[in-house]
Amino acid sequence: IKRVTTSALRDMKARNEKISMLTSYDYSMARVLDEAGIDVILVGDSAANVFAGFETTLPITLDNMIYHAAAVSRGTKRAMVLADLPFGEYQGSVEKAYEAAVRMMKESGAHALKLEGGVEIIDNIKKIVQAGIPVCGHLGLTPQSIYKFGDFGVRAKEEAEAEKLRTDALALQEAGCFAVVLEKIPAKLAEEVSQSLEIPTIGIGAGNGCDGQVLVVNDMLGMTKDFKPKFLRQYTNIYDIISTATAEYVADVKSKNYPNENEQY
Ligand code: KIV
Ligand code: NA
Repeated sequence: IKRVTTSALRDMKARNEKISMLTSYDYSMARVLDEAGIDVILVGDSAANVFAGFETTLPITLDNMIYHAAAVSRGTKRAMVLADLPFGEYQGSVEKAYEAAVRMMKESGAHALKLEGGVEIIDNIKKIVQAGIPVCGHLGLTPQSIYKFGDFGVRAKEEAEAEKLRTDALALQEAGCFAVVLEKIPAKLAEEVSQSLEIPTIGIGAGNGCDGQVLVVNDMLGMTKDFKPKFLRQYTNIYDIISTATAEYVADVKSKNYPNENEQY
């Protein structure tokens, strides 16, 4: 099996084949997605929310993210494994960002890193790219900046913020990023940015004009029951499937139906 590479993603954009991306945080899920044909598995810092139960992505640590990314890497043969650098590890000095990036690459087996932000962190991105590490940008609703935004609403609806996003997207391409995630921005702006860039854009809540799509796997499978933003398509209801199975198991144990004669030694 041939691994999905950054140049493969660029080729997909060139021939107008959309890129599929989902998150995973553990080995078992990564294996299923990989064998089902996903192009990129994002080890998102959304692990802070859906895996660890935090309200924001701010608390997750580099060690936590390395643990998740290493587990996902062990579960994939074909998909590119893209790992988020967590809040606080890359917004300061170039040296600290570089060291965090190198640690993630060495210790997790991930193939690429994602960092939130544009011109503010462009020197840090350049240093990481110069070290030979593929970097994916992330613009629009960047959840590590949630306390700056105040809520999880749509970004870049006003022209000033839209213009800043266009500038940031070009700067990321210029800095050598291989792709950019566009989160929760108007579809028209996302399409315009996607057409203006040579590198692929991956949208979440950014419409059909992006070069690919990403969703948090727990949301897409219906595990995060009450999270129903407009952009989310729920492909199954795994919460109810697990709930029903659990209730049956509990009932079988209580009624002494499980284990039966064939299920013991
Ligand atoms: O952490 C994450 O899941 C993400 C995606 C939503 C893009 O960054
Ligand atoms: Na993230």
